[in-house]
Amino acid sequence: MIGEAAKLLARSRFAIAFTGAGISAESGVPTFRGFNGLWKMHRPEELATPEAFRKDPHLVWSFYKWRMDLIRKARPNRAHYALAELERMGILKAVITQNVDDLHREAGSRNVVELHGNIFRVRCTSCSYRENLKESGRLDEFLKERDLPKCPRCGSLLRPDVVWFGEPLPRKSLEEAFRLAERADLVLVIGTSGVVYPAAYVPQIVKETGGKVIEINPEESGITPIADVFIRGKAGEVMGELLELVRGLANE
Ligand code: OAD
Ligand code: ZN
Repeated sequence: MIGEAAKLLARSRFAIAFTGAGISAESGVPTFRGFNGLWKMHRPEELATPEAFRKDPHLVWSFYKWRMDLIRKARPNRAHYALAELERMGILKAVITQNVDDLHREAGSRNVVELHGNIFRVRCTSCSYRENLKESGRLDEFLKERDLPKCPRCGSLLRPDVVWFGEPLPRKSLEEAFRLAERADLVLVIGTSGVVYPAAYVPQIVKETGGKVIEINPEESGITPIADVFIRGKAGEVMGELLELVRGLANE
């Protein structure tokens, strides 16, 4: 299975990756579905909505600050690094991710399309103010603050710059993702349940336009029925091995 995947990848002309929460699981970032832990009382899906934010912005902000703090301490794992290396080798052309954790870029991937936003960015609920707290160096201060965060420009409430349930995806990112999917002759689908749309159209578009679908996941997912190769396993372990095999083939 993995040998077949390596051959397809080494022979591909325009490969892309489509990733979900599972690729960051080995970095210690909890996934969404099958999630239980600190937030047993509140399902993330129930906190990640505009309604929840209107009703109880304190609760939603405490959830996001908890995730920001957890994610800032997380480091990329072998799967993120393998994708960055495949890009440097000229094999992988882009990573389309549903994750908001920034770990692809931190691992060195350059062409990253974020479909669901970025947890380190905040934006104003009234004006066009946006800030990346990691880049502005305000993250520590922001996480310590107990009051609700306010826009420095207009004083309105700030919100996380992520996509919530029921909200449209950032148009440019979605268009870019679909364009890449149409061009791709292979997609590596890693660590996603593949049930959240429109993101989950990405591997379907690749398939419909004649491309190969390689999936890596310890469990079957919504994508598995269209996968040409399904590799059962953890992203970090499988991608480490896959990268070695592709390197071997590239040097032949
Ligand atoms: P999910 O939590 O739905 O799915 C995680 C997937 O990762 C599952 O299929 C697991 O089997 C798999 N998995 C777990 N550990 C893994 C490992 N070590 N290696 C590889 N795979 C592993 O996460 P997503 O599919 O990303 O949306 O969820 C999609 C969207 O739903 C998220 O972006 C978020 C969420 O609600 C928004 O917030 C809009
Ligand atoms: Zn504002």
